[in-house]
Amino acid sequence: MSQVFKDNIFSGKVVFVTGGAGTICRKQTETLVKLGANACIIGRRVEPTEEAAKEIAKVRENAKVIGVGGIDVRQVNQLAKAVDQCVKELGRIDFVICGAAGNFLADFNHLSANAFKSVVDIDLLGSFNTVKACFEQLRLNKGCVLFVSATLHYQGVPFQSHVGAAKAGVDALSNALAVELGPIGIRCNAIAPGAIDNTEGFNRLVTNPSNVDKYIPLQRKGSTSEIADVTAFLFSDAAKYVTGTVIPVDGGMWHLGFPMRDFYPEKLASQLRDKPKL
Ligand code: COA
Repeated sequence: MSQVFKDNIFSGKVVFVTGGAGTICRKQTETLVKLGANACIIGRRVEPTEEAAKEIAKVRENAKVIGVGGIDVRQVNQLAKAVDQCVKELGRIDFVICGAAGNFLADFNHLSANAFKSVVDIDLLGSFNTVKACFEQLRLNKGCVLFVSATLHYQGVPFQSHVGAAKAGVDALSNALAVELGPIGIRCNAIAPGAIDNTEGFNRLVTNPSNVDKYIPLQRKGSTSEIADVTAFLFSDAAKYVTGTVIPVDGGMWHLGFPMRDFYPEKLASQLRDKPKL
């Protein structure tokens, strides 16, 4: 992480993170914990979530980090239970990161209605459910929410209609909640990572990694710590007048669009000839 933040700026704060065992959200959590926060990370898988929590706790002496596995963000009641456990063990929730997401490359013809729904449910409904479950704590502590979005919906990106639609919804949700909840002191923002190296998303989505840098104005992929730095800024007092924004952290990549040139339009055309998957 960058050295611009003072130690203990988040002392006494607790962050609740869905998808906290994943690459980007884990680094976000580590950074907040390093800067003084305690954390509760949520995941679908039990063991990796509990393991990640133990590892994250090592970044600061006396840090408390709990991992609550077996939670599907599509189920608001499961999230509510995780919130109860977090408050019981860590005392409160100040910050929320809605980071759980699902993604894969699929063209429209091979994307079933259920596949589309799965991603929209995890990304969009899951974000709604997370804020819903945390709302009492956010209201009590004048908390702050960060949605993990993307830049996929700024332009039409083939093979990503499901995620683009879901993340457009996430941005809309963030903006609406910023306006609705601002009067009670709750800030809501979104961060939109671009091509971030060594992440599950990058590995899933980029078919030709060596070719990517030249399509990024800053001429390189980003790092998870660069996402974490902006996360720390948004939760910090330095951003206390910032709400209802979406901040792309992508080296300027969205201006040029995603490098789909390797398989557009030829690969797409062949996919569209198959029998539609319902
Ligand atoms: N191409 C097309 N369809 C796919 C697919 C792919 N690569 N992977 C999954 N699907 C479809 C499935 O076939 C299924 O649709 P169907 O019932 O019509 O066949 C639908 O998606 C749901 O899959 P399922 O595995 O039952 O759902 P799930 O809720 O267990 O998994 C996913 C959710 C699909 C998003 C899964 O990829 C996942 O769990 N991802 C989590 C991690 C992740 O994606 N991280 C990315 C961060 S950027």
